Amino acid sequence: MLNGPNLNLLGKRQPHIYGYETLADVERDCRKLAEQLKLELRFHQSNREYELIDWIHEARETAGGIVINPAAFTHTSVALLDALNAFEPPIIEIHISNVHQREQFRHHSYVSLRATGVIAGCGTQGYQLALQRVAHLIDEGERTPKGAKK
Ligand code: DQA
Repeated sequence: MLNGPNLNLLGKRQPHIYGYETLADVERDCRKLAEQLKLELRFHQSNREYELIDWIHEARETAGGIVINPAAFTHTSVALLDALNAFEPPIIEIHISNVHQREQFRHHSYVSLRATGVIAGCGTQGYQLALQRVAHLIDEGERTPKGAKK
């Protein structure tokens, strides 16, 4: 689970948009859910684009899926898109706010060009919804014979 810039301030930053839950609250709830879903969860946040890219590269070797809130990099980063394009398993893009209801520049996402699914406007609950979706897609992938159409 990857979180982009400024999400370390979640709970304090523009709470009328992003709510009062902190990223630590999100991590705690996701860890509980991951345990129920029998998933091992790695949870990261960075304000640096290269660090997110390095974690995506690392995930190529270790992860069955990625949940990512790229934050402002959503709307700017071809580099993040390129990294995600080099990752094969499911990717769920999540935004706490409904980006489509906000400024025009938030309506375009580079990450959506690669994301398997997108969740926006469900508040911090979106992270748990995304985790459930990844778990489902991993299960489905394990049940689908290689080479079969999904
Ligand atoms: C965000 C939406 C982005 O437009 C913004 O830059 C963020 C957070 C969200 O979770 O709603 O930092 O990704």
